[in-house]
Amino acid sequence: MAVTREAQSWNDLFAARTRTGVGAGLADILALAGDTTLIPFAGGFPDAQTFPGAAAATLLAELVAVGDTSVLQYAPTQGLPGPREVVADRLDAHQRRRPADDEVMVTSGTIEALELIGKSFLDAGDVVVVEGPTYLGAIMAFRSFEADVVAVPMDGEGLQVDELEGRLAAGLRPNLLYTIPDYQNPAGLTLAADRRAELVELARRYGFLIVEDVAYRELGFGREPPPSIWSLAPDVVVQAGTTSKTFFPGVRLGWAVGPTSVIAQLVAAKQNTDQCAGALGQRLFEEYARRGWMDEQLERSRRLYRRRCDQMLGALERHMPGEVAWTRPEGGFFSWLTLPGGVESAEFARSAAARGVAVVPGIPFFPDGRGGENVRLSFSRVEDELIDEGIGRLAALVTDEKGRL
Ligand SMILES: Cc1ncc(COP(=O)(O)O)c(C=O)c1O
Repeated sequence: MAVTREAQSWNDLFAARTRTGVGAGLADILALAGDTTLIPFAGGFPDAQTFPGAAAATLLAELVAVGDTSVLQYAPTQGLPGPREVVADRLDAHQRRRPADDEVMVTSGTIEALELIGKSFLDAGDVVVVEGPTYLGAIMAFRSFEADVVAVPMDGEGLQVDELEGRLAAGLRPNLLYTIPDYQNPAGLTLAADRRAELVELARRYGFLIVEDVAYRELGFGREPPPSIWSLAPDVVVQAGTTSKTFFPGVRLGWAVGPTSVIAQLVAAKQNTDQCAGALGQRLFEEYARRGWMDEQLERSRRLYRRRCDQMLGALERHMPGEVAWTRPEGGFFSWLTLPGGVESAEFARSAAARGVAVVPGIPFFPDGRGGENVRLSFSRVEDELIDEGIGRLAALVTDEKGRL
């Protein structure tokens, strides 16, 4: 009798590249982030109170009423001309460099840009350098192309570029270097200006492409971040940006800017992922930004996140025992906690959930198993009145765990 597909394991037929340890890391974290019974220091979600639901509904009604069918039609793979122009205008205003028309494309979010970059640049075994720690979604995206993902450590000024230089001199040959220079996920750190310049010099000397992820750049609430790496060196940088944290993630909309030949290759790669980013989201974003509403929303969002960050840092000061350290972000959503020696972060996160607080342990943010003493705290979505309570519970847990050692 023939074996039915139901009776056999489909896993045997999965492609080899699916067995590269990408695992269900992100799914686990998103599940924790979605548990509404816990105080949510886990997921890197924007707060829903920043979402422009009413404005989006008004814009859609207006566009349909005037018979603008572009909203509902397929779009060019590179993106509709209007939204590309808006992206170029905003880069000109905020990063002091305007991409030429063939240097910019619209993507279905940053994670798609990373997928297109991986597909275009990575064969099995190729090296990608990342910051240690870094965005879990990026590790997963690069690993899905069977790349060798190598983490170079960070300190208070971001990626340790001198350490990278040493490894390059010793023979490391990456195709790509991925960095989140502003208010990094998960460490909340910003790459210092002199290191940005040194990184560019290394990229030119060793011939790798810098992938600059600016997901949080527009959400600063302290000092201005240094110039973007792309603005310093558009010849060796592809920058991926997103509207997920600033407009709303439901549109799945972002952009990539970079050298003409790179953008042309990414556009070609996009033809057989989703062919085009949704026109509906592109047109809503374009109209919203053209009316100045994007900048107004950003002002409100920065105020909200600054307040939450201040409250969380204040609560950490008040409650945490002396041996705990944490970063002090000047933007974005995250602070990175270092637990006292011997307290293991995955176990800590499980115990925290049992006490009603969701946090993410550090290990998934490294490609090499480090992070056992770290925890990521996200302040973006915790109601003001729960911040002190949540940090107080985490501090009590640290004290209890230390007592058990
Ligand atoms: C650094 C970083 N890049 C990209 C993303 C995801 O962006 P998108 O929603 O555009 O795929 C996130 C979201 O968590 C992020 O933290």
